[in-house]
Amino acid sequence: MGIPQTPARRIADQFADRVRNAPDRHLAERVSRLVAALARLVEEERVDRADLRALIRFLTEVGHASDARRSEWVLLADALGITSLVEAQVTRRPAGATPNTIAGPFYRTGAPKRRDGESISIDGLGDRLVLGLEVADLDGEPVGGARIEVWQANAEGLYENQAPDLQPEQNLRGTYTTGPDGRALVTTVRPKGYAIPHDGPVGELLGRLGLSPERPAHLHFRISRPGFQTLTTHLFDGDDPALGADPLFAVEPALVTRFAPCGAGGYEARHRFILARAHPGREDA
Ligand SMILES: [Fe+2]
Repeated sequence: MGIPQTPARRIADQFADRVRNAPDRHLAERVSRLVAALARLVEEERVDRADLRALIRFLTEVGHASDARRSEWVLLADALGITSLVEAQVTRRPAGATPNTIAGPFYRTGAPKRRDGESISIDGLGDRLVLGLEVADLDGEPVGGARIEVWQANAEGLYENQAPDLQPEQNLRGTYTTGPDGRALVTTVRPKGYAIPHDGPVGELLGRLGLSPERPAHLHFRISRPGFQTLTTHLFDGDDPALGADPLFAVEPALVTRFAPCGAGGYEARHRFILARAHPGREDA
């Protein structure tokens, strides 16, 4: 007599058996594991008919809230931590290197080139923030000639491409290059945090769970140089109360800094990014 089979085990085994000769082996193996994991979960959580109806209703609403301009599915993957987890898995960095994060939806290529110290704030609105950045390798050696693309929300929490009528084209976006000492000076304004879209079913779910849609204030960076893995990352405002509950799970201690008051209403911060060497033949990821 073998071990008694649970209904979940029976379904998992039957499914795996039925797709044994599937034309797409890789897909068959992955879907089999998914079916087995879901069956186990349904059994462990003792899912009943009302649970299943509620789940189907929720997923239907997620689909209805999605169109060509808005993907509630992406938002759901983000809010469940899946997007961030996948990003961490595919861009794993050696210990000591700055962690890679999601780029988010507001990145644009071709941000204007800026001289060292030049401001990326075209409209000049907000509290001045000066960032002394340094790019180094894992041995602490400066990385000169690195391209630093920076983009951020303004002091109202809006990106330039979210509010094209209210902000000049390419406001708060720029591309700097580090000097031979690996340093670059970025002048900007202090960003404000913003909420992820929360007027749909994902927002309602967050609300019922007592979770805030507010992202802590941050700047985005993309740092590239031949021979190194391109780094896409965030720099967070260490004084933002939302820091401990980023709905996109991007916050890590190495990505937090403090914007220290300096001069008349301005702020300054220093931060060091550590790049990992590229894998042979690959510069991304
Ligand atoms: Fe952002």
